Amino acid sequence: MDLLKAARDVRMRAWAPYSRFKVGAALRAESGAVYAGCNVENVAYPEGTCAEAGAIAAMVAGGDTRIAEITVIADSPEPVPCCGGCRQKIAEFAGPEVRVTLATTDGKTRVMSVAELLPGAFSAAHMDRT
Ligand code: THU
Repeated sequence: MDLLKAARDVRMRAWAPYSRFKVGAALRAESGAVYAGCNVENVAYPEGTCAEAGAIAAMVAGGDTRIAEITVIADSPEPVPCCGGCRQKIAEFAGPEVRVTLATTDGKTRVMSVAELLPGAFSAAHMDRT
């Protein structure tokens, strides 16, 4: 399945009455399965969740834990960069070489790696003192 189409489709279901900024994310797990998520806001603003977090939660619930590729789309003038928290969430399940595509609804894309998205990522290795 085309990740850009999956991200575009799920974006339409975003719940964003406060920011009015709908975001869609779709990822392909190493198994080949595609998982999608949209942002889900809440009147208690900090309770809102990002599209990337939704796609990752769907992936884990679906039984996958490794991301092979991820695409994020929003109606922004330039491809929307994932927030800091989502960069860390993606890095939990993706190697540094994994491709991240940031897209706009009018067709602009920016492709980068997870290492570029989150340079110097904190990882489990930083807790290893042996
Ligand atoms: N948002 C995402 O879902 N992903 C991003 O990468 C950037 C921001 C959402 C969170 C909030 O619902 C809205 O966009 C405005 O910040």
